[in-house]
Amino acid sequence: MPKKMKQDQVKTIEGRNIVVGVSGGIAAYKSAELVRALVKKGADVRVMMTENACHFVGPLTFEALSGHPVCFDLFDGAEDAAIRHIEWAGQAEAVVIAPATANIIGKMAAGMADDALTTFLLAVTAPVMVCPAMNTHMYKNRAVQRNLALLRKDGYVVLEPGTGELACGTTGPGRMPEPDIIADRVCRLLVEKDMTGKKVLVTAGPTRESIDPVRYISNHSSGRMGYAMARAAEYRGAEVTLVTGPVNLAPPVAVDVVPVQTAEEMAEETLARMGDSHIIIKVAAVGDYRAEKVASQKIKKGGKPGLVLNLKENQDILKEVGKKKKKQVLVGFAAETQALVKNAKKKLAEKNADMIVANMVAGKDSAFGSETNEVCLLYKDGRQERLPRQDKEKLAHVILSRILDLI
Ligand code: CTP
Repeated sequence: MPKKMKQDQVKTIEGRNIVVGVSGGIAAYKSAELVRALVKKGADVRVMMTENACHFVGPLTFEALSGHPVCFDLFDGAEDAAIRHIEWAGQAEAVVIAPATANIIGKMAAGMADDALTTFLLAVTAPVMVCPAMNTHMYKNRAVQRNLALLRKDGYVVLEPGTGELACGTTGPGRMPEPDIIADRVCRLLVEKDMTGKKVLVTAGPTRESIDPVRYISNHSSGRMGYAMARAAEYRGAEVTLVTGPVNLAPPVAVDVVPVQTAEEMAEETLARMGDSHIIIKVAAVGDYRAEKVASQKIKKGGKPGLVLNLKENQDILKEVGKKKKKQVLVGFAAETQALVKNAKKKLAEKNADMIVANMVAGKDSAFGSETNEVCLLYKDGRQERLPRQDKEKLAHVILSRILDLI
């Protein structure tokens, strides 16, 4: 067993102290969803509001959602109100201003402190993310753009607003990104960037092999583990490409997503990108066979009894990458229904991988479709390491840490 490495404790969002600052724009209603999303991810969330924000959403809404009193007045009469903003500034591990109006952006750029939120912001040392949301013309205004450039220069993370029809009736940039996207970027803000400069290629999901125009052969892979690997690597600062079969998952933010259907397409896209990658993680459940001949019309029932389908083997992409690889670290996933370690060991050797992540894909503990996974890591030098059942996101971080140990 390898020694427990420090990266096992990759600190994600769980239990982290996050302050959401809400300023007075119509998008303030979306901030309630943002607080909910962050709380759902396990964060300890506190909310600060400007006086104008209280016209859009009542502080009670945020108090109920966050489980903490809301701070909106430097002098609200409560016993600890006068120091609350300083105390919260010291405790915050990340801050997100959503929505950020032109007014608060201007005040932040100028270093002003004329209410609870702006005073708090001057005292914060944690990373701060700003989510501008306003009328398109206001957003494009030179003063606002100048202030945003200043904030970026000062080290604030500015999340680009979305483009579309805005509440004020104009169309263009200025829409606050969806709460799930902002919550995802807050998660990223909290993770140590130990993969900066690394190019990571991940394959995920099942493949689909057509039989006729309406039918295909596939498998039960949900793509969750591969998507979790891609997301975790992006959080840690890597440049990530995700070659993915058809899944029902939202594409990870800031990842180059390459959708494919068949094993042949996956092979083509993966082999074309391998030379450029430092780390290749093949999580995909690639179909081993495809129809020898794809029928041009729908196959009708009632023909000869016992329809026989002739199949031919697909290329083994991992094996091909293993043959061609130079300095890349190559990681495969073994999907087994029996003799987990024995079968995975064989794949490790045959495919020239540096690590195989072995997981069971049958029965009640199946990794397919589950939110959690329990795996055994097999290394080239013969080491084996069993990792306890855990959430796929957390597991992805542990696997990435082990991969970094190999570099
Ligand atoms: N793999 C691949 N190309 C294939 C089949 C598998 O790249 N045509 C990769 C998978 O992405 C995974 C690893 O090989 O990383 C192991 O896949 P798995 O389905 O467990 O095993 P197979 O090699 O297909 O062997 P078997 O079906 O006999 O278990």
